[in-house]
Amino acid sequence: MKLAVVGCGYVGLVTGSCLAAAGHEVVATDNDGPRIASLQVGKIPIYEPNLDKVLESAVREGRLRFAPDCAEAMHAADVIFICVGTPPTETGEADLSAIDNVARLIAKESRSPKLVIEKSTVPAQTGEQLKRALQVYTRNNGVSFRVASNPEFLREGTAVGDFFHPDRIVVGVEEPESERQLREIYRPILDGRFRCPVHQPSCPPAATADFVVTTIASAELIKHAANSFLGLKISYANVLADLCERLGGNVDEVTRAVGLDPRIGRQFLNAGLGFGGFCLPKDIQAFIKLADGVGVDFGLLKEAERVNKQRVNLLLDKVKKALWVMKDKQIGVLGIAFKPNTDDIRLAPAVEVIRRLLAEGCQVRATDPEAIERARAVFPDLYYSADPYEVARGADALLLLTEWEQFRSLDWKRIRNEMARPLVVDGRNMLRPAEMRELGFEYVSFGRPQAVAVDATT
Ligand code: UGA
Repeated sequence: MKLAVVGCGYVGLVTGSCLAAAGHEVVATDNDGPRIASLQVGKIPIYEPNLDKVLESAVREGRLRFAPDCAEAMHAADVIFICVGTPPTETGEADLSAIDNVARLIAKESRSPKLVIEKSTVPAQTGEQLKRALQVYTRNNGVSFRVASNPEFLREGTAVGDFFHPDRIVVGVEEPESERQLREIYRPILDGRFRCPVHQPSCPPAATADFVVTTIASAELIKHAANSFLGLKISYANVLADLCERLGGNVDEVTRAVGLDPRIGRQFLNAGLGFGGFCLPKDIQAFIKLADGVGVDFGLLKEAERVNKQRVNLLLDKVKKALWVMKDKQIGVLGIAFKPNTDDIRLAPAVEVIRRLLAEGCQVRATDPEAIERARAVFPDLYYSADPYEVARGADALLLLTEWEQFRSLDWKRIRNEMARPLVVDGRNMLRPAEMRELGFEYVSFGRPQAVAVDATT
């Protein structure tokens, strides 16, 4: 089966590369000419662990190619994955104009029947609109289209592993033939017949993924429902953290014990600065709008969103409480990306924190293992360094804003000696309060008993 992937952003690149690595013939295209040109010479525009390995070997083995001409890419394909962006509009709804453009192009250029798959995150009923657009704009009455929804559940930073080892593959279909084609596409993944670039020499034993067949509307809803629930869980943990601060509990202990109940689960109960990125915040917003639009008040999600937006304020309150006057204070920032193992800073809480610190007149120095170049585009005049110790040098406070593993293993004694005042505000509850106290830090985190500096001289 010949596959086309339209949209060479993060989802399109991971989907196209992994399906090619699983044995399919894939042509990937995008209306961003320079992006395709750099992909053709092996330059990947995003940082995603292991993507380079899968992409390079798929290209080398002739199963993946990048085509600048979208129409040409579609001609050859039996199945087209739409992976274009659906960013939020001013009012919070998903902007579907890129989907609409692709639909019109497919309708205009197709000379043979196609299965058109929504991979982008879209609101429920987009499938209906897509089907209509394909019918209305087709120039060739002999060509028929089937539409399906196949939402992705990839996490940035572990997307390649997630693609090869999914816990579920959801396909929303209307015809048995669409289900058959999608089963065939995912057969190598379901049967474990692929070379996994993440686990060498072999993958750990894992349960087989569930292949879940639903209606198109259900599949669309599943994606929004899953991301929104994850956001809900994080906000719940964050309110628990606030409560622990008032009542003297420790949120780590509370969420650990609560999460041991398999009905609840331990994941996504880490309190701190809250969720960012281009998925959870925008999907929750779009889901609220979608519900409002059909007269359902999703107050639960509105509250989760409100709690999340407060997190940056709460962190800054902690900083202000410790520093008293913010103006002219030197602040070191550890972590800019919205989460570790990515260079993505879209809707990253750290970006908002930096913006607010600058507005308060602070001198900010920042580091991130991967995101400095992207941050430069937003804050061109900020002082950046790849060296966390340099960021700490002379600082009145150090803010830990992204849970990169390498920050845990820094030489914190050295950091303390570099700082003007050994104050650490840990927005991700990454470090151990007792250890930080022993090292002489004034250490502030979320929902855990606060540690105060005891001795900064040794
Ligand atoms: C999210 C979902 O987890 C994926 O399943 C989904 O496929 C993807 O969106 C998507 O729609 O494409 P992602 O945006 O990569 O994935 O990030 P997450 O791992 O969900 O983390 C989101 C944010 O929540 C990060 O800022 C992270 O720091 C924060 N977080 C996560 C917490 O604050 N606490 C936690 O316990 C977990």
